[in-house]
Amino acid sequence: MTKHFLNLTDAGSDAIAAMIADAIDRKAARAGKPKGAADADAPLAGHTLAMIFEKNSTRTRVSFDMAVRQLGGTSLILDGATSQLGRGESIADTARVLSRMVDAIMIRTDDHAKIEEMARHATVPVINGLTDLSHPCQIVADLLTVVEHGLALPGSQWAWLGDGNNVLHSIIEAAGLLKFDVRVGVPEGYDPDPAFAEAARAAGATITMTRDAGEAVAGADVVVTDTWISMGQAHAEEKLSAMMPYQVTPDLMAQAKHDAKFLHCLPAHRGEEVVEAVIDGPQSLIWDEAENRVHAQKSVLLWALGRLG
Ligand code: CP
Ligand code: NVA
Repeated sequence: MTKHFLNLTDAGSDAIAAMIADAIDRKAARAGKPKGAADADAPLAGHTLAMIFEKNSTRTRVSFDMAVRQLGGTSLILDGATSQLGRGESIADTARVLSRMVDAIMIRTDDHAKIEEMARHATVPVINGLTDLSHPCQIVADLLTVVEHGLALPGSQWAWLGDGNNVLHSIIEAAGLLKFDVRVGVPEGYDPDPAFAEAARAAGATITMTRDAGEAVAGADVVVTDTWISMGQAHAEEKLSAMMPYQVTPDLMAQAKHDAKFLHCLPAHRGEEVVEAVIDGPQSLIWDEAENRVHAQKSVLLWALGRLG
């Protein structure tokens, strides 16, 4: 059966754990090699990934390209506007055609329903490179980053501050799969989709919603935030003011554990969701997190193509 990766639950706990372990091994094994050199086993030699972007990207685009190269394969990019998708060709027909030409499809799109439609009609794996609903590939990189920095995931305490967005949804999903807890500090009107919290709670994670930023971060092992205005959302002053009490500052970080880790998927808006003293400070893991997109995407591709877990 074709293995799509639209959300973390498509893979499940064991596969996510296997992805993290494999990423750690592959990263160590290629230390010192040029970034575009293939891993010794080149497991995806001869394979091609098509990447479709209907929204901007730096990390997702470059990390998937480098990931495929390191696995011995190749990638190509279609942008929504200049492909026939931009002239109205259906997602279903695009999926059918690409399935005859390439070995896997990664898509970044505005509407999660589009990626579900693509997965229904593709006979090769479809991977979510971000939708309005979720960003699972980012969270594999985030998990890898904190594990690499010595955090045991089960029972760990994560704090989210700011907007209840796509990245948060995937963190909550990961909490249910890997048994950690999330305290979500978001202003009224910007809550995450309750379905994610309900599923994570049913899986045994404690997901707490609070309007109090201090309560969200108290004793946390990991503090995470993201842009207050995601791609496709209006830049509203009203939203920015509502978010201000959730800005990640040194005072807020001081209420988390003394060795708490700070994550941000990037791009960042310094002075909005986080101040420079935190994002550039000693607890920030953002550059490892960004690099780990490459290593995480390799694991996702290997899993989707049946080479892992
Ligand atoms: N974090 C992330 O997905 O970055 P890009 O938007 O640059 O791909
Ligand atoms: N929440 C952000 C993530 C960017 C990587 C967005 O959707 O724009």
